Amino acid sequence: MRLMLAPMEGVIDHTMRQLLTALGGVDRCVTEFVRVTDRLLPPRVFHRLCPELATGGTTACGVPVYLQLLGGQATVVADNAARAAELGAVGIDLNFGCPAKTVNRSNGGAILLREPQRVHDIAAAARAAVPAGIPVTVKTRLGYEDKALFLDIVAGIEASGVNELTVHARTKSQGYRPPVCWDAIAEARELVSLPIIANGDIWSVDDAFRCLAVTGCDSLMLGRGVLCRPDLPRLIAATAACGESAESLHWPDITLLLINFFETNLRHYDARNAGNPLKQWLVYLRGYFPQAGLLFEQIKRLRAPEDIRSILQQTLPPVAAKRCAA
Ligand SMILES: Cc1cc2nc3c(=O)[nH]c(=O)nc-3n(C[C@H](O)[C@H](O)[C@H](O)COP(=O)(O)O)c2cc1C
Repeated sequence: MRLMLAPMEGVIDHTMRQLLTALGGVDRCVTEFVRVTDRLLPPRVFHRLCPELATGGTTACGVPVYLQLLGGQATVVADNAARAAELGAVGIDLNFGCPAKTVNRSNGGAILLREPQRVHDIAAAARAAVPAGIPVTVKTRLGYEDKALFLDIVAGIEASGVNELTVHARTKSQGYRPPVCWDAIAEARELVSLPIIANGDIWSVDDAFRCLAVTGCDSLMLGRGVLCRPDLPRLIAATAACGESAESLHWPDITLLLINFFETNLRHYDARNAGNPLKQWLVYLRGYFPQAGLLFEQIKRLRAPEDIRSILQQTLPPVAAKRCAA
């Protein structure tokens, strides 16, 4: 069984990928999408969203990072896919699921699911433009308004020659609301032999095994669930490997991760904004750890790094707090 960390624009950047993959259980990551409109993008755009290009295309602990492209013109997407490969991407992923109005208005993301032929053409052009040894994968939803075209879309994606398909089992109209429709993934698997990665609403170890059973897939992609419970991939992987769950992280462990995350962001981002990713992560974490909600309330209006650091240090377990102060 393989576990992929979902791409999440504005949330899972290279610092979050590094933190989460270091906890174990993740076999692959995908970057936030690189928006492709009508031209070949300069290398700096690829490096900004995928700094891992400079280190062999993997996170520091060796987990491969596929670079995601989002665009509606087959030739331009193909040219950019070829460039990403030249720059060292270890895999290219194509986004056909983004529900954002701005993206859909300019002919990218989920709007393309109304035209299965275009999805096929873009995927085929990208596959043809990238050296055979570098995987090209696709990420889709079930459709735009409804799932009437889903099986046509999947058949077209298989015919395009891409290597794998991730299905977020919702339509664009559903946004991120339940219910997720894992059954549709099972139907797609009956139609094609292309490997399919199941995605959507996996919040616990139980959810993961139910999803594997319903879909028949052997690979899962996890998004918001990992932000709520950073050790979820490791717990799922341990259960799959030996039938027993590994030791889970407790709130004191999380506080150490939070302070490391904050200090890493301070090194990468402008000091006045370095608290924002932390605040955003706390909003996800409070879904599982109530203490994260209290911490969020304490720091939500703070901007100065020393103020945020001081509150974070008060949450640390005593031994770690002493170490930090020293
Ligand atoms: C804030 C946010 C940003 C996202 N950004 C992307 C993205 O850049 N590319 C993409 O393919 N999917 C993106 N997604 C969708 C996720 O990758 C995933 O398909 C979805 O959240 C369902 O999985 P989950 O229930 O495990 O979170 C995003 C989702 C959220 C909530």
